[in-house]
Amino acid sequence: MDPLRLLGCGLLLCVQLHIGVTGDCPADGRTWVPFGNGCYYFVHGSEDKIKSYTFERAKSLCQGFELLSIQSAEENDFVVKYSPEVWKNNVNIWLGMYFDTNSDGMRWFGERPVGFRNWEGGSSPPDLVPLDTCVALHSNTGKWENVSCVDQTENGVVCETDQIVTFLREPFLCSPQGSSLLLSALVIVSVVVIMGVSAVIWFVHQKKSPGSTMLTAFEYHPPFRVLDEDRSCLVEAEETDSAP
Ligand SMILES: *[C@@H]1O[C@H](CO)[C@@H](O)[C@H](O)[C@H]1NC(C)=O
Repeated sequence: MDPLRLLGCGLLLCVQLHIGVTGDCPADGRTWVPFGNGCYYFVHGSEDKIKSYTFERAKSLCQGFELLSIQSAEENDFVVKYSPEVWKNNVNIWLGMYFDTNSDGMRWFGERPVGFRNWEGGSSPPDLVPLDTCVALHSNTGKWENVSCVDQTENGVVCETDQIVTFLREPFLCSPQGSSLLLSALVIVSVVVIMGVSAVIWFVHQKKSPGSTMLTAFEYHPPFRVLDEDRSCLVEAEETDSAP
């Protein structure tokens, strides 16, 4: 780092800029697909054999993350559109929802209330008790269905997590653009200050001795006296001339 840049950084080290925001998905060797503010891992994609997972197995596959939760129509569409990329056939995907006895209704894991809903018409299987109610998403229609958490197996598992948001904080003035900008600013400010001070000095001096400039202030005076003597001689001469 050159001395001027070092000076700039030393003077204004506290000035930092938020350059940007990046969303990152977990780097754990699995394929996380980013969408919106989330990351999605479609478990066991591109396999011919259809598998089946109990709800408990699905949850344990996503260990450390959540099962898929859908907050909007856009997110629901994303899952429907992305499913054919990972599964050859239509699948039913477990949703990360459970029956909450406190609110007497369904709730997402992570304590989020169910806002967007996409249940298909009709009602739950008649023998399904609320406490044993889980929800599966049909990858072909995007509709949701109430199913049993214990008796049912589904063939699609999607894990979800929030994107990791990082602010890239950069000490702006220590970057090449920053230091050259600082240098230009310093030069401009110096020129303006010097010009301003000169103008003030000149103005103050003008007020003190009006009609004179800085140069005449240092002029030698005797010549004026000589001129005065000459003039008086002239006056005397005029007086003598006009005398009868
Ligand atoms: C699904 O089950 C929940 C919990 O019992 C219930 O509140 C909801 O109305 C059911 N949905 C449908 C479409 O049957």
